[in-house]
Amino acid sequence: MIELRNVSFSAYDEETSQNNYILKEINLNIYKREFVVILGKNGSGKSTLVKHFNGVLIPTSGDVVADGINTKDEDKFCEIRQKIGMVFQNPDNQIVSSVVEEDVAFGLENLGIPRREMVSLVDNALKCVGMYDFKKSSPNMLSGGQKQRIAIAGVLAMNPECIVFDEPTSMLDPEGRKEVVDTIQNLKKGNGTTIVLITHNIEEIFCADRVIIMDSGRIVSEVTPYEILLDKNYMRMLGLKATQSIDLFYKLAGRGINLPFLTADEDKCADMIVEFLEEKKCR
Ligand SMILES: Nc1ncnc2c1ncn2[C@@H]1O[C@H](COP(=O)(O)OP(=O)(O)OP(=O)(O)O)[C@@H](O)[C@H]1O
Ligand SMILES: [Mg+2]
Repeated sequence: MIELRNVSFSAYDEETSQNNYILKEINLNIYKREFVVILGKNGSGKSTLVKHFNGVLIPTSGDVVADGINTKDEDKFCEIRQKIGMVFQNPDNQIVSSVVEEDVAFGLENLGIPRREMVSLVDNALKCVGMYDFKKSSPNMLSGGQKQRIAIAGVLAMNPECIVFDEPTSMLDPEGRKEVVDTIQNLKKGNGTTIVLITHNIEEIFCADRVIIMDSGRIVSEVTPYEILLDKNYMRMLGLKATQSIDLFYKLAGRGINLPFLTADEDKCADMIVEFLEEKKCR
């Protein structure tokens, strides 16, 4: 779906008054229908990397080919943006209209889609993120999580092959975070959209097929979500904060009680403890 071949990217750094390499010789394939999470410390180059996926940034050297189109091909600029949509951190920066349905239609209008078709695409996208009842509302009246779901609907309406989420929950409260995480998980289950998610939140990595770790502009490893959870030092190094249930897992293991699997979900954790206690009672 997206292929990066030996991609490096440099930009002018005002502090040092010279060109610095932000991405260094990156080779990466994102496959169709995959769910890939990108982790890494602040400034490791995650956002710079994903901005190469749909030609927001063009490599200084190397090539990015997205669904068969090289991002250097200026004639295919619109096509690539339609195929690979992006959702960013700040929901307020992504709202462009004063009515929800117009906001979601914005990208379609730019593509020149006929009105009747547009209405049905917008309605479907709003239903997909559970915001159909708000189609006549003003985005200003919505919560952060709802605004972010509107931004996701705007991307979905364009029927993209892939959606890239750059820390979509980092500015949301716990409730908004859950709404957005559930929406992303439904996308994975539902229409098989390829998903790339940048996050600093450990609860969001569980759905991933693959986790890519970046450091100083390079991809330093590829692991499964589980491998990260099993290694506390890894979590610390990546600046990931363990959830209470992960902490509890390790504390119980230190006291000789091994729960069958590691989870960030508190309900599942509680179920496992109950099961463990009941087994003990029976003996
Ligand atoms: N346009 C630019 N010009 C110069 N330097 C830049 C530019 N964009 C990013 N950088 C620098 O490149 C490095 C990587 O930035 P990037 O935003 O990709 O990191 P990140 O991993 O997304 O970080 P965060 O977790 O904070 O979002 C940083 O040192 C940043 O200051
Ligand atoms: Mg970033």
